[in-house]
Amino acid sequence: MARLAGKVAIVTGAGRGIGAATAARLAAEGAAVVVNDIDPVPAEETVTQILAEGGQAVACVANTVDSAEADRLVGVALEHFGALDILINNAGTTRDKMFHGMDDEMFDFVLDANLKTAIHCARAAMPAMRDVAKAEIAEHGRPAHNRKIVFTSSVAALMGNPGQVNYVAAKGGLIAVTKTLARELGPFGINVNAVAPGFVETRLTQAKQPGETYGIPDQMREMAKAMIALGRLGLPGDIAAVHAFLASADSDFVSGVTIPVTGGQLGGM
Ligand SMILES: NC(=O)c1ccc[n+]([C@@H]2O[C@H](COP(=O)([O-])OP(=O)(O)OC[C@H]3O[C@@H](n4cnc5c(N)ncnc54)[C@H](O)[C@@H]3O)[C@@H](O)[C@H]2O)c1
Repeated sequence: MARLAGKVAIVTGAGRGIGAATAARLAAEGAAVVVNDIDPVPAEETVTQILAEGGQAVACVANTVDSAEADRLVGVALEHFGALDILINNAGTTRDKMFHGMDDEMFDFVLDANLKTAIHCARAAMPAMRDVAKAEIAEHGRPAHNRKIVFTSSVAALMGNPGQVNYVAAKGGLIAVTKTLARELGPFGINVNAVAPGFVETRLTQAKQPGETYGIPDQMREMAKAMIALGRLGLPGDIAAVHAFLASADSDFVSGVTIPVTGGQLGGM
């Protein structure tokens, strides 16, 4: 069943990892997808994969830390596919350091990349989502269908995580934003939810090599695995499946929640 047939989606940070898997999953379920990333090459790779599998996709290279770029991103969805029904705010990154040594630059960078990007994209989507729904309500008494906004938080914001005070400030902020926007936008048939992934195998969680920006120490990877009830680390497709649920009509009565997708992370959620 093509749950998302006829729908138009934006997935941010869709060149790699969870975002790439989500873009592919939404396309496989019938959505036309705008594949956003800050890096052009992986964004094009995701588009190529979707097109090869018979889906519809276009790339939009943009850094939505700049709100004008978020407006341009929404413009690409409207220009290519004529609407915007689903916004998956997945873009994000880490710069870990213990709190006492974390300078303003590291704090601002992570807050911008995780929190501002998502807020900018959600706000840029308002004319295409809220205003369109409002016009439908004026004409027909209700929106034509529910529209969907999904934020990507993290289990780190639910449990706390040493070395990530910048990241949990951003990801915790997204949980609060989710609840508030769910209240503001519910009357317009817009569902607003978040996922809180646990430990998922991507470049953010790869075994850290000396001098690398991304990754975490091997010892922490092993500890994380030991805490997961289902006995394995997550895969990008595990999160993509929940994104697809939250993007679909199957979640039309779900709003304002953050769903932990962790394999049952003990000591957390
Ligand atoms: N991997 C995990 O275990 C895990 C756990 C919890 C939450 N998350 C969150 O899931 C999301 C995806 O992470 P991932 O693990 O797939 O990471 P990843 O690094 O594999 O992919 C993230 C993508 O986002 C892009 N990106 C970064 N900043 C951007 C920006 N400003 N504008 C546009 N694109 C940008 C990157 O270029 C990259 O392609 C992030 O928000 C991350 O914080 C990941």
